[in-house]
Amino acid sequence: MSFDRNIKIAPSILAANFANFGAECEAIEAQGADWVHVDVMDGHFVPNITFGPATCAAIRKHIKGVMDVHLMIAPVDPYIDAFAQAGADVITAHVEAGPHIHRTLQAIRATGAKAGVALNPGTPADAVAELLDLTDLICVMTVNPGFGGQKFIDMSNKIRALRAMIGDRPVHIEIDGGVDVNTAPLVAQSGADVLVAGSAVFRGGSVSAPEGYGENIRNIRAAAAGVYA
Ligand code: DX5
Ligand code: ZN
Repeated sequence: MSFDRNIKIAPSILAANFANFGAECEAIEAQGADWVHVDVMDGHFVPNITFGPATCAAIRKHIKGVMDVHLMIAPVDPYIDAFAQAGADVITAHVEAGPHIHRTLQAIRATGAKAGVALNPGTPADAVAELLDLTDLICVMTVNPGFGGQKFIDMSNKIRALRAMIGDRPVHIEIDGGVDVNTAPLVAQSGADVLVAGSAVFRGGSVSAPEGYGENIRNIRAAAAGVYA
């Protein structure tokens, strides 16, 4: 995985057809997705349950590019190896998921995966100030995690603060929650480079009519790029 700050669209398969993940992943990649964002929820850290490492391993075979695994689970550490073995390129843990996020990021990197750290809307940018050299990606949640299709919460001040803190370090800023053509310009302008989008990518398309996914991805990318035009 090489590093750049170009805008990357990462469809969240939380909004895909759960009975058809393999074909859904292939469809979004064929339609221009840069990364595939995989939301793991435990019914404990967040009030919803999705799936675990076995599902990640199964869908890995259908993803050519980056598999970006967002762990909304607590504890995290006992499961890191399983998600790494499932083929995750990026493993992101929440700073709120336990008292030892520093150790968690070390453990993720030790597997060879890229280490991400996610911040809930109520958590300030300063929470990662001591973690900048241990992380490859900071995920700014723009909804409270647990469900797709929620209303975007403006975190642009936090994104700008993180962008300044990161400086020249090769650390991505990812935005997760409520990203669509209306909110993409603000987050891109604030300094984000990875835009997760669930409902805004999958609405209006299907594996039998995947052009809808492609149109949605192109529109979000154009909206994000438009701020520089
Ligand atoms: C929220 C998840 C998100 C979610 C985004 O807990 O982490 O990745 O799928 O969905 P949308 O884009 O519909 O807000
Ligand atoms: Zn997510």
